[in-house]
Amino acid sequence: MQCTRKVTQDILWVGADDRRLAMFEGVYSVPRGVSYNSYLLLDEKTVLFDTVDRAVEKTFLENVAYGLGGRALDYVIVHHMEPDHSATLMSLLEKYPEAVVICNDKTKKMIEQFFGKAPNAQIVKEGETLSFGKHSLTFYMAPMVHWPEVMLSFDHESGVLFSADAFGTFGALNGALFSDEVDFFGEYLSEARRYYTNIVGKYGPQVQAALKKVAPLPVKMIAPLHGFVFRDGETIRRFIGKYDAWSTYTPEKTEVVIAYASIYGNTENAANILACRLRERGIAVDMFDVSVTAASEIVSAAFRASHLVFASPTYNNGVFVTMEALLHELASHNLQNRTVALIENGSWAPSAAKWMREILSPCKALHILEPAFTVRSALGAQDAQSFDAFIDALVATIPEKA
Ligand code: FEO
Repeated sequence: MQCTRKVTQDILWVGADDRRLAMFEGVYSVPRGVSYNSYLLLDEKTVLFDTVDRAVEKTFLENVAYGLGGRALDYVIVHHMEPDHSATLMSLLEKYPEAVVICNDKTKKMIEQFFGKAPNAQIVKEGETLSFGKHSLTFYMAPMVHWPEVMLSFDHESGVLFSADAFGTFGALNGALFSDEVDFFGEYLSEARRYYTNIVGKYGPQVQAALKKVAPLPVKMIAPLHGFVFRDGETIRRFIGKYDAWSTYTPEKTEVVIAYASIYGNTENAANILACRLRERGIAVDMFDVSVTAASEIVSAAFRASHLVFASPTYNNGVFVTMEALLHELASHNLQNRTVALIENGSWAPSAAKWMREILSPCKALHILEPAFTVRSALGAQDAQSFDAFIDALVATIPEKA
C-alpha cells in the first residue's frame, strides 16, 4: 500500500524514509535515518520531480503508481544526478518508457555515464519555463550545490521552490512532511546544519549565487530532496538566514568550540581547565574529543561557533591522527573567518601546533592566536601563569555580551 502525503492540491510527496542506512555517502552517520524526497505533479501533464535511492525503490515505485492512478507519466525532472536521487531512474523509465527526462546538458551526460545509455531527454537552460497545464516551472542552474549539474525549479502556480539538496535535513520524516509538524529549530536545526556543512559547506560562493537567483521569487514553499518541506513564511525566512550565514562562513554564535585529542588524558585535562576558565567568565563552550565524536559533528559545530581551540598531542612528529583528520576535513570544507587558538602537547619534541597551522593554512580569514600553548607532558603548578595568559589572550578576542 502507498505511503504518500499531499504537498499541495496537485503535488504529492512520493518519497520514502531509510532508517537502515548507517553512513550516508559512506561517511556521515545518520542515526535518525534520512529521507529521499520525490514529488509528483498531477496537472494536464504528469511530472515527477526526481527519483530516490536504490534502498527505497519498492516503496517509491508503489507510491508513484498510486499517485498516477493509472495515468501515464509524461515527464521526470532530474534536478540532481547524485545516485541518492537518481539510482532508480532507469527502473522508473522501464516502468514508464514514454516519460521524457527533463534535465540540463550536464545531467544528460551524467545519465549516460551512470547508466550507459542516453535517455529520451528534453534539455532545459537557465531561466527557461515549461508549462504542464495550470503549472509552469522555471529552471535555475545551481552548479556545485552540490554537484555541477544541479538545478532548481520554481512552480509559479503553487509557489513551490524545488530546491534539490539545498535546504535538506538529515533524519527520516517519521510521517511529518512539513517542518511545522515538528519543532524544527529546536530539534532539527543541528541536523540541517550538519547536512549543509558537510555536504555543501565547501561551496559557499555557489550557494550564495543560488540564493541570489531565487531571492526575487515569491516562494511560498521549499521542497528539498531530503528532510522537511517548508511552508511557513517565518520558518523559510529564518532558515534562509541560516543558509546565508553558513554560506558566507559567518559564525552563528559567540562561542568557543574546543576540539581535543588526548592519548593519556593530559591534553584533555588542559582542554577541560580551559573550558572551566571560559565558563567562569560567562563564555559559551562546546567540547569534543575528536577520537570519539564523528568529524561531521565537529565540522558542523565549527561552522556555528566564532572561536575554535584545537588541542593535540604530538604524535610521530606530527599531529595526533584523529586531530589531523578533523583539521583536513575543516580545511576541505573551506572553513574560514574564525578565531583559532592552538594547544600542543609533547614530552620531548612538541611540534603539533606547527602541523596544525600548516593543515589550516589554506583556510581564509582564520585569525590564529600566537603563540600556541605548549604542554610538556602534563600541566603542573609551574604552568598556571602561562596558561592563564594564554586564556586571557583568547578571552580578549571574544566580544562581551551586550
Ligand atoms: Fe542528496 Fe547531493 O545528493
